[in-house]
Amino acid sequence: MEYLVCTGCGKRRDIDVFCARCPACGEPLEVSPPPGGAVRSDAPLLERYAAFLPAGALGLGRSPALTLGEGNTPLLHLERLGEQIGVPRLLVKVEGANPTGSFKDRGSAAGVQRARVLGFSRVGTVSTGNMAASVAAYAARAGMQAVVLVPADIPRAKLAPIVAYSPRLVGVEGDYGTLYGRSLELGARLGIAFINSDDPFRVEGQKTLALELWQQLGGQVPDAVVVPVSSGGHMAALLKGFEELHGLGLTGRVPLLIGVQAAGCAPIVEAYRHGRQAVERWENPATIARAISNPLPPSGNRLLRAHRRGAPLQFITVTDEEILAAYRLLAAEAGVFAQPDAAASLAAVIARQKDGSLEDKTVVAVLTGHGTKDLTPLETAGIELPTCPLDKLAEALAG
Ligand SMILES: Cc1ncc(COP(=O)(O)O)c(C=O)c1O
Ligand SMILES: [Zn+2]
Repeated sequence: MEYLVCTGCGKRRDIDVFCARCPACGEPLEVSPPPGGAVRSDAPLLERYAAFLPAGALGLGRSPALTLGEGNTPLLHLERLGEQIGVPRLLVKVEGANPTGSFKDRGSAAGVQRARVLGFSRVGTVSTGNMAASVAAYAARAGMQAVVLVPADIPRAKLAPIVAYSPRLVGVEGDYGTLYGRSLELGARLGIAFINSDDPFRVEGQKTLALELWQQLGGQVPDAVVVPVSSGGHMAALLKGFEELHGLGLTGRVPLLIGVQAAGCAPIVEAYRHGRQAVERWENPATIARAISNPLPPSGNRLLRAHRRGAPLQFITVTDEEILAAYRLLAAEAGVFAQPDAAASLAAVIARQKDGSLEDKTVVAVLTGHGTKDLTPLETAGIELPTCPLDKLAEALAG
């Protein structure tokens, strides 16, 4: 039997009523554990992992699953870069290879599919960019309208990949942290299924990354997985995936999950360091990694609770300088172009390795979004073009 359960108070809810958070305590809901079974290797993402997902609630097997070809992203062993930073078994999971260029597509496939099964004609999201483009794309694919709420001060360059899918786009003035809660209220009133960062069905889709890593590593899990964290939804989803694999007896352990936040907006790290039970709002976020700068992460308390009950979670910060250094290294030394927010995971590996603790470990840095998603660091640094007359080209290129 599929049901929703509160990650805070443990109360159960009917899975067929669209609901993201517990009406009793306000914490995120999640889907009950899956039955487990075989992976269908050549099917689209949701059908591939149907045995590990709430297949009934997602309507899997009744009609073809919603897909734009998400998942199956490369897991690359970066031998040279790994040697250089002292982590020879450094792997990167290139989530920028998803259809709209970010990891969000896994969760949007599941979330939009669920809304469609429940009969919604409109889906919505609150996002600084990646989730907005992703939900808009999957809504278009499903023949539904997307309502996208972005912060009014979002850099205009970030809007193009969203408007491409013609959603109903609104730039909302005011606090981004508050907008999440407001969207759920408005959605319930106006019949819009808001599929935000930690919606229970988005989390089901996002958790396929854990399942895919397990498969790509031949039925093993890595020693550590490093992820950039904003709302906390993605990290919670990875933990759910790995804990379920473990619970089903398919892996011997749950890998260490290292969540990284930017030093200029690190509400979860701050609560973790001080042993607090709840995150506190981060005043005045200031980082180039805008995609990971949620000042009041809606799944923050949930991650802190998981840590308290013994889940292998750690949280660290990296500075903008460290993020930019990792961003450049990835592209120039390994040919992998990730957006700065995503490169924070490599920056975290480099920072954590300083004490040698990752040296002999298999470490996966999740690169959550493609570099073309945010070209600001390159553009603001100024791009120089050395020129040369045609007849002097041979000399210029010699040596
Ligand atoms: C590129 C990128 N990385 C990481 C994250 C963080 O994910 P979450 O908000 O689920 O913690 C986001 C969120 O939008 C993102 O866009
Ligand atoms: Zn509750």
